[in-house]
Amino acid sequence: MNDANVWLITGSSTGFGRSLTEAVLQHGYRVIATARKPEQLDDLVAKYPQTVKAIRLDVTNPQEVRAAIQTAIDTFARIDVVVNNAGFGSLGAIEELSDEAIRRQFDTNLFGALDMMRAVLPVLRQQRSGHILNVSSVGGLVAFGATGIYCATKFALEAISEALAKEVASLGIKVTIIEPGAFRTDFNGRSLAVPDQTIEEYAPVSGEFLKWMEQMDGKQPGDPA
Ligand SMILES: NC(=O)c1ccc[n+]([C@@H]2O[C@H](COP(=O)([O-])OP(=O)(O)OC[C@H]3O[C@@H](n4cnc5c(N)ncnc54)[C@H](OP(=O)(O)O)[C@@H]3O)[C@@H](O)[C@H]2O)c1
Repeated sequence: MNDANVWLITGSSTGFGRSLTEAVLQHGYRVIATARKPEQLDDLVAKYPQTVKAIRLDVTNPQEVRAAIQTAIDTFARIDVVVNNAGFGSLGAIEELSDEAIRRQFDTNLFGALDMMRAVLPVLRQQRSGHILNVSSVGGLVAFGATGIYCATKFALEAISEALAKEVASLGIKVTIIEPGAFRTDFNGRSLAVPDQTIEEYAPVSGEFLKWMEQMDGKQPGDPA
């Protein structure tokens, strides 16, 4: 890495995205920090006025994805590292989750990241350099009851990342998958999406798992910083 490094990070508001954005700024790199509510990044803009640009980005909005990339080019003239971090867990038994909830989960965790990758690749190919970091999960490797839909988005993200790494290796572009276990972010708290309707027969699996997730909120072993 050198001082020229320009990062674009999704979901900079809390958790991993927030910690990573702070760490990158502390190291003196430049960042397009993004959030659905960019005012959550005002403190970083005040502290690092020269090196951070905060903008609104909902990863499910294709126009905002493209605008974020354009802002990076207009502001810092290049993009070195793209971090697809935005995501959340929609948990519950397969039969308990509504079609709408399942699609919302895929739209954010998978299609949001995929859209960002496909939109930024022309820039990285032209530069003949760049690094895409995709935040998957241990749930991208193995699925437990009540995590099927969440894990499906991460398994898919892993497949796309593995294939992409091979496609772009000769172009100077790297792809890395990150597979965290349980960390003290907002994941188990405000970000957790639970089923609208629960089915009694799944209580021992799904109900118990969700209870455990809620109890673990704030007590996860991992420190995102
Ligand atoms: N914490 C863990 O134990 C753990 C383990 C494995 C993997 N992960 C992964 O880590 C990533 C970050 O989660 P976290 O643990 O840091 O939880 P978090 O603190 O809840 O952060 C989630 C971030 O994603 C953003 N986000 C959600 N939907 C979005 C959308 N449509 N567009 C843009 N941003 C969106 C949130 O923005 P808002 O503030 O606007 O909601 C927030 O910035 C996720 O991909 C998650 O699957 C977490």
